[in-house]
Amino acid sequence: MTTSPQPWSQRFESALHPAIARFNASIGFDIRLIEYDLTGSQAHARMLGKTGIIPAAEAEQLVAGLEQIRQEYRRGEFQPGIDAEDVHFAVERRLTELIGDVGKKLHTGRSRNDQVGTDTRLYLREQVRLIQDQLRQWQRTLLDLAEPHIETLIPGYTHLQRAQPLSLAHHLLAYVEMAQRDWQRLDQLYERVNVSPLGSGALAGTTFPIDRHYSAELLNFGGVYRNSLDGVSDRDFAIEFLCAASLIMVHLSRLAEEVILWASEEFAFVKLTDSCATGSSIMPQKKNPDVPELVRGKTGRVFGHLQGMLVLMKGLPLAYNKDLQEDKEALFDGVDTVSACLEAMTILMAEGLTFRGDRLAVAVESDFANATDVADYLAGKGIPFREAYNLVGQVVKTCLAQGKILKELSLEEWQALHPKFDADIYAAIAPRQVVAARNSFGGTGFEQVRQAIAVARQAIS
Ligand code: ARG
Repeated sequence: MTTSPQPWSQRFESALHPAIARFNASIGFDIRLIEYDLTGSQAHARMLGKTGIIPAAEAEQLVAGLEQIRQEYRRGEFQPGIDAEDVHFAVERRLTELIGDVGKKLHTGRSRNDQVGTDTRLYLREQVRLIQDQLRQWQRTLLDLAEPHIETLIPGYTHLQRAQPLSLAHHLLAYVEMAQRDWQRLDQLYERVNVSPLGSGALAGTTFPIDRHYSAELLNFGGVYRNSLDGVSDRDFAIEFLCAASLIMVHLSRLAEEVILWASEEFAFVKLTDSCATGSSIMPQKKNPDVPELVRGKTGRVFGHLQGMLVLMKGLPLAYNKDLQEDKEALFDGVDTVSACLEAMTILMAEGLTFRGDRLAVAVESDFANATDVADYLAGKGIPFREAYNLVGQVVKTCLAQGKILKELSLEEWQALHPKFDADIYAAIAPRQVVAARNSFGGTGFEQVRQAIAVARQAIS
């Protein structure tokens, strides 16, 4: 007989090797599930009472005892050690200390396998809603930043080569759209997180006349797992979340990368404000964009958690395997990382940088980003577009040879290139006009951008 606190110790001849006990234990990280564990256990206890599996008075004692543990935990008095193995054993043991033998009835008709699945889902569904709220705040911040910059121009790039000038607001609104899909993805996967495995038992259900629908209803789950094996061994919901989290990180990381470029002396499109930048320990002149760099860097760990979970699951035979204990750190860190990055990027865009109008204005004036507009100009006068395109290619070549840009050509030079050019060519290729003219739906024209802001505000309200 051993003195090990684990309920299963009676079947064993000797206690667990201390190093193996540490290796096996999840209490160090699953303590984070304690509030959900208590709530899930209270629902289970109420169900046991309602179905008459245990007397109603005892069910009430269980619920009250669990509530007492909650208060102890919140006061910092309940700090189970490694000997408890996991949060589930820790709670059950404390419950029995508090209310005596009745506490031993809590686990009737339940296994830690359906219990841990229940806890994890209760945790994740709450986190999903919190991250959705953060995404909304992120979108509002981007919209607030975009609004005064509808008519601020910024070079637009393809292949990181100057392509066509843009409304700065249009550029920022692209990220509002990405965040909108991120929000929707979370909303959709919430439905699949919000399903109760409670009552699946160890793997096969239970001999007790439990009411799974009742406990699910008490926990506000949208439904119950229809197959007990699937109920205890499914982690799709966690993988789906990490997938959605990875996409959020992709989007944050792309903007982070742009901010890093924009803050460099080479671009100099933004100035970092002191509240969100850091200095160097040796180079006194430095101001570093640590925030976007960290966001870009942390993206890798969220992808890693997604990959880790996929590999964790791919070879697991049904049903529960201890491997599944490994889901938690991946999930917790995924939640923490995406949430911290959303917060930091929101602060960065709200107060961490200012756009340098002087530099942006110079940037959009000094290149060939209006070349398409020359071709469009000719096409508008009846020249087939491909022909116009070829001609403008020659114009650009001529300009490059003379060290000029398009607006520096004289009217005679234009007309020598093609008789259809007229004095209105200068207005047509001015950056403001180039942007304003792209008034096709979803384009960067100021009218479109104004409408897009209104539509986005509406969508997130
Ligand atoms: N700590 C375990 C986990 O996180 C709880 C479930 C244990 N179940 C078992 N059959 N050993 O997965």
